[in-house]
Amino acid sequence: MNRIVYVNGEYLPEEDAKVSIFDRGFLMADGVYEVTSVLDGKLLEFDGHLRRLERSLGELDMGKPAGFDDLLEIHRELVARNAVDQGGVYLQITRGAADRDFVFPKDAEPTLVLFTQSRPLLDTPAVANGIKVIFSDDIRWGRRDIKTVQLLYPSMCKMMAKAAGADDAWLVEDGFVTEGSSNNAYIVKDGRIITRDLSSDILHGITRASVLKYAAEAQMEVVERPFSPDEARAADEAFITSASTFVLPVVGVDGVQIGDGAPGPVSRRLREIYIGESRKRAI
Ligand code: PDD
Repeated sequence: MNRIVYVNGEYLPEEDAKVSIFDRGFLMADGVYEVTSVLDGKLLEFDGHLRRLERSLGELDMGKPAGFDDLLEIHRELVARNAVDQGGVYLQITRGAADRDFVFPKDAEPTLVLFTQSRPLLDTPAVANGIKVIFSDDIRWGRRDIKTVQLLYPSMCKMMAKAAGADDAWLVEDGFVTEGSSNNAYIVKDGRIITRDLSSDILHGITRASVLKYAAEAQMEVVERPFSPDEARAADEAFITSASTFVLPVVGVDGVQIGDGAPGPVSRRLREIYIGESRKRAI
């Protein structure tokens, strides 16, 4: 890879980009992140991602190293310098470098890192065929509404899914699905789109907010409530949403085929609407 990345005010070749071993992101996962998708070389849902970033920073009492306009400029510059047509921009802010201590340092400078990833987002095998998910216990911490870089358990869930011949895991707590390991989870039953309501149990997906808005505008019925693994197994359709997958059909849940085993009409329609609307609004 020959990427140009951004670290604390500088654009650098990726091999020259360095962060301190004392960075609290490295030592304590004391950091937050956002992933903004790029389509046609433009940023999708940038406002939403920035708003959630500010919320995550606020919840953790973490400093903001740059404002909206600066961050937009850096995103655009990286997309241009790396000639990204499809893919994403990853942004991470940590509390910065300080001698190791559980107490937050008083005067650490936040670390700001951004890099791009080029990859196809539209016509992938997962879009054509749908994906399969397993269930895993949701043993994450209780503030899943904050987008922190503590991603070890989601990472382990992807490995468990792979080992089981599936693609991803849906997390289950107290008998109900919370969300996917890195996405929000939905089922469709009798024409109703069902997804867990917002709380600190799940990440408030930016894609989720837009998809639910577009679904309502298209006169599709949306119910925001927890659903159980049994309901998921018996669903007519299932899908996930995230910045990097948009709306992605789920065709197998816990070894059970969903519908006829092919991406269903509601998921396909929502995906089309979401991509069309997001493209129009891309900046
Ligand atoms: N993941 N839930 C979790 C646990 C997530 O990590 C994500 C995003 C979502 C969907 O949020 P959004 O629609 O704003 O992307 C829900 C990103 C894409 C990632 O970690 O790569």
